[in-house]
Amino acid sequence: MSIERVCVLGGSGFIGRHIVHRLHAHGYGVRVVTRDVARNRDLRVLPGVEVTGGNPLRESDLDGVVSDMDAVINLVGILTEKRSRRSRALEERSDFEAVHEELPRLVVAACYRHGIHRLLHMSANGADPQGPSRYLRTKGRGAEIVRAAGRRAHIDPVPEWLAGTILSRERDFNPTVFEPSIVFGEGDLFFTRFARLVRWTPLVFPLPGGETRMAPVWVEDVAEAFARSLEEPSTYQASYPLCGPHEYAFADLIRLVAELEEVRRKVWPVPSWLATLQALVLERLPGAPLTRDQLASLSVDNTCDRPFPSVLGIDPQPLEAVVPSYVGRSDRYHADLYRYREGARRRF
Ligand SMILES: NC(=O)c1ccc[n+]([C@@H]2O[C@H](COP(=O)([O-])OP(=O)(O)OC[C@H]3O[C@@H](n4cnc5c(N)ncnc54)[C@H](OP(=O)(O)O)[C@@H]3O)[C@@H](O)[C@H]2O)c1
Repeated sequence: MSIERVCVLGGSGFIGRHIVHRLHAHGYGVRVVTRDVARNRDLRVLPGVEVTGGNPLRESDLDGVVSDMDAVINLVGILTEKRSRRSRALEERSDFEAVHEELPRLVVAACYRHGIHRLLHMSANGADPQGPSRYLRTKGRGAEIVRAAGRRAHIDPVPEWLAGTILSRERDFNPTVFEPSIVFGEGDLFFTRFARLVRWTPLVFPLPGGETRMAPVWVEDVAEAFARSLEEPSTYQASYPLCGPHEYAFADLIRLVAELEEVRRKVWPVPSWLATLQALVLERLPGAPLTRDQLASLSVDNTCDRPFPSVLGIDPQPLEAVVPSYVGRSDRYHADLYRYREGARRRF
């Protein structure tokens, strides 16, 4: 199987942008699909990268963007949802079931219809149909849909809902599922947001789930894993948890952020009843800084039993080598620069 052109759904997001750059560096032509082309025009500066408008949850849009591609990467995911009536059209929904379950089903079906043999699917560490939160349960069910559609010639039967498509006759569909822990890197949600919160919170930092263990993984390592696996047959039909080289308690990561920010903060473990009350209020605010579903996700560790997959030949970076480049003094330097430029009315 020779792959030249790759369609990246969710290629405009934090991880997606890094993956697009890596695919470009590996010589692939890339089509980024976004619901907002104007906001993501900058990606076009890379030769061979096109940015196309479309909503992946609309079947006709999906057909239009994948039909001439050799492979698809699905990165679309949400941390907080907008609950809407199930009776609404799928493309108007932004709830976990629509984005994490229905979309993978649509993507697999589109691959089968257009004879696309290769799919890389982004799930999450701890994703499990029996998991403690709706985020983890829907991510788990989405990954199951993708895995069940994977087929080796003459071994796996065609799932009934894919019968009659081009691939159901060609008998060869090769998905790979990735399940990263917290992903860090410049522009991440985790360290960048906690750095801001730590700066704003006086003296004591209230933290629910502080004992939960995490093994953050660098976004460039995740991106390289995607790019290397694309044409690596030993990764076909496989699932890979992706973790960084070290584990930390959540509270220790906050202490590290405070140290980098050069502020003294005592981490206060919030009891679970109070955390639930806190989330009840915060999930109603714009951007929903903390939800009850996220609290439920924090009830299980976010670590890997296996080391970074050796088949990909990547030695993952520890966060200590990367996070200080964008949290702390350098972060404040960029923020100051931005303010000075704004003050001088200069545009980027
Ligand atoms: N960041 C992490 O620490 C982490 C850890 C584990 C797993 N993951 C998974 O990795 C994936 C990417 O994460 P990220 O942090 O890069 O997310 P992100 O920055 O929020 O990007 C998400 C992308 O999905 C698209 N999208 C969001 N909602 C959509 C909807 N309702 N319909 C269609 N497209 C939608 C957005 O595209 P447009 O708005 O441009 O259309 C955007 O490009 C997700 O599946 C996430 O669950 C992330």
